[in-house]
Amino acid sequence: MPKKTNNKPKSKAKSSKKAKPYIFPENSLNFYISEETASYGIDGKKYFTLYYDNPELSVRLLKGNCIEILNRARENSVDMIFADPPYFLSNGGITCHAGKMVSVNKGKWDKSKGAEENHKFTLDWLKACQRVLKPNGTIWVSGTTHIIYSVGFAMQELGYKILNDIIWYKRNAPPNLSCRYFTHSTEIVLWAAKNAKSKHYFDYKLMKKTNNGKQMRNVWELSAPQAEEKKFGKHPTQKPVELLKRIISASTKEGDLVLDPFCGSSTTGVAAVLLNRKYVGIDLEDEYLHLSKKRLEEAIMNKTATMPALKKVASR
Ligand SMILES: C[S@@+](CC[C@H](N)C(=O)[O-])C[C@H]1O[C@@H](n2cnc3c(N)ncnc32)[C@H](O)[C@@H]1O
Repeated sequence: MPKKTNNKPKSKAKSSKKAKPYIFPENSLNFYISEETASYGIDGKKYFTLYYDNPELSVRLLKGNCIEILNRARENSVDMIFADPPYFLSNGGITCHAGKMVSVNKGKWDKSKGAEENHKFTLDWLKACQRVLKPNGTIWVSGTTHIIYSVGFAMQELGYKILNDIIWYKRNAPPNLSCRYFTHSTEIVLWAAKNAKSKHYFDYKLMKKTNNGKQMRNVWELSAPQAEEKKFGKHPTQKPVELLKRIISASTKEGDLVLDPFCGSSTTGVAAVLLNRKYVGIDLEDEYLHLSKKRLEEAIMNKTATMPALKKVASR
């Protein structure tokens, strides 16, 4: 049989020095990426860019596809992940916002590709997240009926250990305009450990104290984000900072690394900064990364105003 030859010219990037597989350095600041290496992955292809970096506080925003980035990130390096993935509900429907009928469409990223494709996407990003979680790390995933059953099934397929399903009850949910269904007023947040062997962290005492000395239940009544939380602009599916503060303080310690692979406006990052945790946020869209940056900078400034030692760092 004749030998197959590959006559394709080698791309310049493949032969360049920068085209080596990108390896996240073994240091205490997991996910540290220098300006020079940030834009290069395997084969010289640009997988991500470093959009914002505060190395002193270890707060970072990466622009790119989270699956591609996480598949190249260091294994067992993240303490906790909060993921608020696309809900795949932007298909021409209507909803109610501020008393008005508005389109439910959130953006191209939220369009459904059909149940099978959507589930494959869920499996792919959950697998990428599981690889980077530390052995005792946990993941929280929020969603509505459109995706949460796919997420739960994928978690079982991948061997995650589901710890809780939190029902977030939105006391200020908008009315149902069609009057053909009950008014949607909840979201589910699944909490899972990396696998069956994981010894996950849970600050039971703090949660009990927060709940007036009673064991905290899995139904959390919290408002949707307030106007103050949207002063730099709106993200169509923004989560309230209070929700993320509770999630982060329940499942991490100070100094832990929190990752949000679908960060949007970085509600997770704002809560992480306020609670002295490290943060890496990933998103595809410039518009949302810009909003994230503004919110993170403000959170850092507010925090440093009360901590003089950090003032110098934040003003750089
Ligand atoms: C549901 S929103 C997250 C909102 C966020 N929790 C907040 O409070 O603002 C999902 C985000 O994921 C981003 N996204 C969608 N697919 C992505 C992908 N493959 N990689 C990275 N980001 C993605 C979208 O641009 C969108 O901002």
